[in-house]
Amino acid sequence: MSATIVVGTQWGDEGKGKVIDVLSEGADVVVRYQGGNNAGHTIVVGAERFALTLIPSGVLYPNVTPVIGNGCVVDPAVLLGEMATLSERGIDPSRLRLSGNAHLIMPYHRKLDAVMERFLGRQQIGTTKRGIGPAYTDKYSRQGIRVQDLFDPKIFRSKLEVALKEKNKILTKIYNQMPMDLDPICDEYLEYADRLHEHVTDTSLLVWEAIRDGETVLFEGAQATLLDIDHGTYPFVTSSNPTAGGVGPGVGIGPTAIDRVVGVAKAYISRVGSGPFPTELDNPIGEKMVEIGGEFGTVTGRRRRCGWLDGVALRYAVRINGLTEIALTKLDVLSHFETLRVATAYDSLDHRHTEFPRQQRVLYNCHPVYDDLPGWNTDISGVTDYRDLPKQAQQYVEYVEELAGVPVTMVSVGPSRAATLVRG
Ligand code: IMP
Repeated sequence: MSATIVVGTQWGDEGKGKVIDVLSEGADVVVRYQGGNNAGHTIVVGAERFALTLIPSGVLYPNVTPVIGNGCVVDPAVLLGEMATLSERGIDPSRLRLSGNAHLIMPYHRKLDAVMERFLGRQQIGTTKRGIGPAYTDKYSRQGIRVQDLFDPKIFRSKLEVALKEKNKILTKIYNQMPMDLDPICDEYLEYADRLHEHVTDTSLLVWEAIRDGETVLFEGAQATLLDIDHGTYPFVTSSNPTAGGVGPGVGIGPTAIDRVVGVAKAYISRVGSGPFPTELDNPIGEKMVEIGGEFGTVTGRRRRCGWLDGVALRYAVRINGLTEIALTKLDVLSHFETLRVATAYDSLDHRHTEFPRQQRVLYNCHPVYDDLPGWNTDISGVTDYRDLPKQAQQYVEYVEELAGVPVTMVSVGPSRAATLVRG
């Protein structure tokens, strides 16, 4: 029996989908607890590539019940679209369970996301424009519409009416946009209701019962630690709590249910969108990481900014999430570099910082202090046993382990399920 949380330790795109996919093999339930279709998980099974944004990665295993918890925001058209795509490719999505308390992403959320970003100009966040921030804003201002509202057409219409009245004022008077019509939105969403109905259940109870009955439950974090609304590089963050603590409110279970917290760290770092990034390499080395690592977004196709592994941020992720272990991904990408660097501290504003700075001013002025490690200059993508990795590659993994203070239990050297080295 185990309840395991899998979280990103950086700014997302660490390869969580693959780690969750590997861990899903022995799992019964895989649960998303925050975010929406801003997440992009690419999973490679044999010759097939699956890109999921909302449905938990575990759906690819027939033994798994995939769950979308109450802490998520759900765009029903995207959800139904992903289910249809999976069906076409021979994956049965009928086991999917969806919380009636999850909030709906509405067309005006997507519109507002786009126009608010434009309005911010040079200060823009670089969001995925999927309506995530505006949907969570409505949730916390208690104006949100939830999945369960879809099943009472009168209530749904009246909530939509109230919401649209306000949103149309904002759209027309502040952002100079056309107002949105009630009827087409209402008809569109009520049509989704019929198709979603059989999937909606009390997911908090479902997960609690699974844990009580000794089943294996995985909590799949989307985005990552440094994109957390409370603990990330605010305001350049997403609007939810991807950190491990988000599981409690995002699913409705207590902290004592959790046994294991796995932090996924890419062997280097990337970031999409705006915001501080101390180890960013805006030079040919960073460019090489983008090319070799295929660092383009799953959701938006945007080029990711790349840089050396940041040990300060990694230790911060260990602390904030209470990590019990680390899964190190994309180690094969580093095969192409002569010397590898890892940041161990930052120099900023006349001080040396060994802890991740909480002050934006400090973060923006950071100059990383690096340790240099030898590269291995050999292709490792075909290695299937950790002990067969070149000595320098093992040294790199052990260095990361020492720096983080928790064991690296899994090393990924390629996109396929097979390219995963589990360390005892
Ligand atoms: P939002 O989540 O669409 O509001 O975007 C807020 C910030 O989080 C932007 O910088 C996005 O690029 C980033 N972001 C959101 N989801 C992901 C993800 O799955 N991977 C990496 N970055 C993400």
